[in-house]
Amino acid sequence: MHCRRNGKPMIKKSLQTRLGLLAVVVLVGAMTIWYLSGAEPVIAEAQTPFAATSQQVEQGAYLARAGNCAACHTARGGAVYAGGVGIATPFGTVYSSNLTPDAATGLGNWSPADFWRAMHQGRSRDGHWLYPAFPYTSYTLIRREDSDALFAYLRTLAPVTQPNQAHALAFPWRSQTALAVWRVLFFKSAGFEPDPARTPQWNRGAYLVRGLGHCAACHAPRNLLGATHEANALRGGVIPVQHWYAPSLVDTREAGVQPDDIAQTVQLLKTGIAAGRSAMGPMAEVVVRSTQHLTDVDLQAMAVYLADLASASPPAPVLRAADRPTPSVTGEKIYTRHCAQCHGERGEGAPGAYAPLAGNRAVTMGHSANLVQAVLKGGFPPATAGNPRPFGMPPFRQTLDDAEVAEVLSYIRQAWGNAAPAVSVLEVMQRQ
Ligand code: HEC
Ligand code: HEC
Ligand code: HEC
Repeated sequence: MHCRRNGKPMIKKSLQTRLGLLAVVVLVGAMTIWYLSGAEPVIAEAQTPFAATSQQVEQGAYLARAGNCAACHTARGGAVYAGGVGIATPFGTVYSSNLTPDAATGLGNWSPADFWRAMHQGRSRDGHWLYPAFPYTSYTLIRREDSDALFAYLRTLAPVTQPNQAHALAFPWRSQTALAVWRVLFFKSAGFEPDPARTPQWNRGAYLVRGLGHCAACHAPRNLLGATHEANALRGGVIPVQHWYAPSLVDTREAGVQPDDIAQTVQLLKTGIAAGRSAMGPMAEVVVRSTQHLTDVDLQAMAVYLADLASASPPAPVLRAADRPTPSVTGEKIYTRHCAQCHGERGEGAPGAYAPLAGNRAVTMGHSANLVQAVLKGGFPPATAGNPRPFGMPPFRQTLDDAEVAEVLSYIRQAWGNAAPAVSVLEVMQRQ
């Protein structure tokens, strides 16, 4: 410890810290009061009857897929876009809203301006603040004409009378004040500013990835208050509650796109599989509901943008032979017995059917959550038009215990030239 220090400077320091903290509290408090008083600009627009062209409606239907609105607004077995889907967060469950044009319970009485305010500022028609489980932190970048097209499309849906379900949030999260504080700290409405130094293709890709595609909702790290640090830093994030890890899109050791990997990325987003990789878990759902429906032009633009994002990625470390780990013998036995028939004796996989495990970034990246999920739950890559009958993997929850799962995962991370840290039993236990 710093025993040479006498008490004085330390007291001074703690006083400074306290004063600093007080200043922050006062500032946040003042901003919150300003916020609650509604000083945030409210869009004033004449209420004109809304008339949409069929082109707008068609465009809106496409954008709804790009934004994957149905994933959260159509309940399993429920009416299309009638909401009521529970989104689990570390603070409780937030229920999505009814977006059908029902006057009493949906968006029937909304104007295009009300709708734009919700998308762009995260405020409901009556002015209350919406929870960021609705990813308006990304949608805020949406252009007004795209918002109007989405609105036009939603107006064509069959109205469904279904009142919005109350959120099941713990105190203090259920209060508007807590949400106002959160917004002061973590949200600023913004518009998409095209970068004139870049190609229109890059800008289109950036708009889709950062805006409607809301890739940051999963691929960005979150702090303790559930906020993404910089909404657009796609540095990889753990999806709350589900125990999946959405890998970094800026690091080529995880899911960052290399310049010669653009075509593969388009294929992955379109079909759910590409040479050596497949979309799993929550990403499989993104492919099924959203990206497989996008045009090749848009997917290409997204891949070009993603490749640029990852262009500053640190290179993969070069391992000396002496540093290579010795793979677990127990793990090898489990692998030969349960896994090799599909993934191959040497982890080489089978093209078009089973992912190789040797040299696969999804196997060697730092975070092991997805490996645990894959082995315990098994799964299918998404069934898409481009890959209608995918090969599946059986769940091993009943067959292998936690220690065996840890052994086999440690083995595949260290065999055949792979050189990632072993997976502990504790990691397996924590991620289910
Ligand atoms: C990840 C889940 C998710 C996605 C994706 C999503 N929403 Fe939502 N949305 C929600 C939740 C949850 C709420 C409720 C928020 C609240 O009540 O505070 C909501 C609320 C809304 C509201 C406000 C409704 C009201 O009555 O105040 C609108 C408008 C909306 N969403 C439109 C959309 C559109 C359009 C898309 C696609 C571009 C979309 N949402 C995609 C989760 C989502
Ligand atoms: C609902 C959460 C979620 C959203 C939204 C999401 N992802 Fe993912 N993504 C994941 C998860 C989890 C994985 C890891 C599983 C896997 O490898 O498929 C992943 C993996 C990936 C991979 C690597 C796939 C592989 O195996 O090589 C790419 C590339 C990717 N996502 C791109 C995107 C893009 C682009 C968007 C926005 C259009 C996006 N993701 C939106 C959750 C999400
Ligand atoms: C019947 C064939 C089959 C068997 C047996 C099998 N797998 Fe798989 N495995 C697959 C398929 C198919 C996928 C792609 C699943 C998906 O996309 O959801 C996969 C995916 C994986 C992945 C994710 C790879 C990636 O690129 O994201 C890992 C890791 C994995 N398997 C490990 C194992 C281990 C370990 C075992 C043995 C305990 C095993 N598998 C047994 C077929 C199999």
